Amino acid sequence: MAVEFSQSRTKENLMKAFAGESQARNRYTIAAEEACRKGFFALKEIFLFTADQERAHATRFYELLKTEAGENIRIEGGYPVDQSESLVELLMMAAHNEQEEHQEVYPAFAKTAEEEGFPEAAYAFSQIAEVEKIHGERFVKIAEMLKKETYYESSGQGEWMCLNCGHIFKGEKVPPVCPVCRHERGYFIPACMAPYLGFSACR
Ligand SMILES: [Fe+2]
Ligand SMILES: [Fe+2]
Repeated sequence: MAVEFSQSRTKENLMKAFAGESQARNRYTIAAEEACRKGFFALKEIFLFTADQERAHATRFYELLKTEAGENIRIEGGYPVDQSESLVELLMMAAHNEQEEHQEVYPAFAKTAEEEGFPEAAYAFSQIAEVEKIHGERFVKIAEMLKKETYYESSGQGEWMCLNCGHIFKGEKVPPVCPVCRHERGYFIPACMAPYLGFSACR
């Protein structure tokens, strides 16, 4: 049933989503600092890349609240304290939140928006839910590689990119420093996660 936006649950859901995305952005920025402290510079970049996308999500939800400019929207919600000195734990906690957004929170918000007659909001919730799926899966993948120690090592021929100079290292184990630019191994990222490396598949 169509309702006035100012009276809608969608208005509150958009503000909840804005709060959630804003916090996710900060959590990932803080996690990036932890990755940096531990010398995982490529992982720092993955956290920052994801943080920027959370900001974009927050921006879209905020835009959809434009008609409420000048108002205060009261919301109630629970927000996670995802603190750990373990990168694997940080990744798994992040993945948990991403999966929750993907599977439960945003689909429910999209359904409500649809029912209340706000297709633009419904579209944003459902499409951003799909992005969160990718975020969650990426975090899980990296956590698994760190746990199994395949982030820098491979049982057969592995491939990594140095994010500083772009050198592609092929072998079984990433060397302590990049043979080309001499930056430490933390700049290496598994090729399957390397930015823009998929161009060769473009036809
Ligand atoms: Fe997001
Ligand atoms: Fe996300």
